[in-house]
Amino acid sequence: MQAITVQDRNAGVDGLTLSELSHPHAAENDVIVEVHAAGFTPGELDWPGTWTDRAGRDRTPSVPGHELSGVVAELGYGTTGLTVGQRVFGVTDWARNGSLAQYTAVEARNLAPLPADVDHVTAAALPISGLTAWQALFDHARLTTGQTVLIHGAAGGVGSIAVQLAHEVGARVLGTGRADDRDTAIGLGADAFIDLQAEGLAGVGEVDVVLDVIGGDILERSTALVRPGGTLVTIAEPVTVHPHDGRAVFFVVEPDRARLADLAQRLRDGRLKPIVGAVHPLAEAASAFTPAKRITGKTIIRVAED
Ligand SMILES: NC(=O)c1ccc[n+]([C@@H]2O[C@H](COP(=O)([O-])OP(=O)(O)OC[C@H]3O[C@@H](n4cnc5c(N)ncnc54)[C@H](OP(=O)(O)O)[C@@H]3O)[C@@H](O)[C@H]2O)c1
Repeated sequence: MQAITVQDRNAGVDGLTLSELSHPHAAENDVIVEVHAAGFTPGELDWPGTWTDRAGRDRTPSVPGHELSGVVAELGYGTTGLTVGQRVFGVTDWARNGSLAQYTAVEARNLAPLPADVDHVTAAALPISGLTAWQALFDHARLTTGQTVLIHGAAGGVGSIAVQLAHEVGARVLGTGRADDRDTAIGLGADAFIDLQAEGLAGVGEVDVVLDVIGGDILERSTALVRPGGTLVTIAEPVTVHPHDGRAVFFVVEPDRARLADLAQRLRDGRLKPIVGAVHPLAEAASAFTPAKRITGKTIIRVAED
């Protein structure tokens, strides 16, 4: 089968290669998914799991990409809850071969059934962004109606979903990003938009929750915005700075079949819309990691036609 692989940790995106790999093995509780559409996360080539297994052993050549939508092709011994031929979407393990391939092996619990009226490209844009946004806002920051939330990178993969979820729960949503992102963020439900380059964070005032996807200086400066008892959640890097009288949380998204099903239902109801900024075939996945021009939203790799 065809897959995008990486072999050399120092090569960066230049090391992404279209390769021929053997068909994946279905271990106990695994599902082999025929991938129709796949998503990747900018920066995932820096994650340890891209290069080593859980025991820290080299596992190259490895296949990046951790979001997928496709069809169940085969079940491992003891795998229950899904059937061959069923449409599914979800996340692949960080330390196993991922979704930029014609077939991949995934634990069944990482997948949810995909309703027939949701296309694979849209579904592949949802798993990591959707689960991360939900877990950040509601599991870690306990955002509720009437609170104010500042969402950095509001037009990006995670931020664009977070804006929609926070708006729907009745929070006041302040989105940030680059100047070009203003209309997208406001269109998704942000009450106001802050251009980080032109305006900075000085005029923001106090907020109950900050969701940071950028890290570094933006994360550091955001601590001062958190009102007493509030929460700063970041997905960008482990926290070394804290609000004066509030919590700071870094977390890594966890698979959650029930939440994936809920997100898919929201999508069907028209309450949630992932932004797909670009779609490329598998052969162009390497260049899609470093697009020639800026993309708003997720880049999706179409691996097979529906
Ligand atoms: N911990 C976890 O579980 C977890 C889960 C998902 C993602 N992540 C990480 O979270 C980060 C965001 O993921 P994503 O999928 O949302 O990425 P994304 O789609 O690239 O979104 C990030 C957004 O923030 C904007 N941005 C970044 N730096 C900025 C700056 N200095 N000023 C203004 N805007 C800025 C980006 O614009 P530009 O593209 O123009 O920079 C983009 O619109 C990535 O580093 C990813 O690896 C972590």
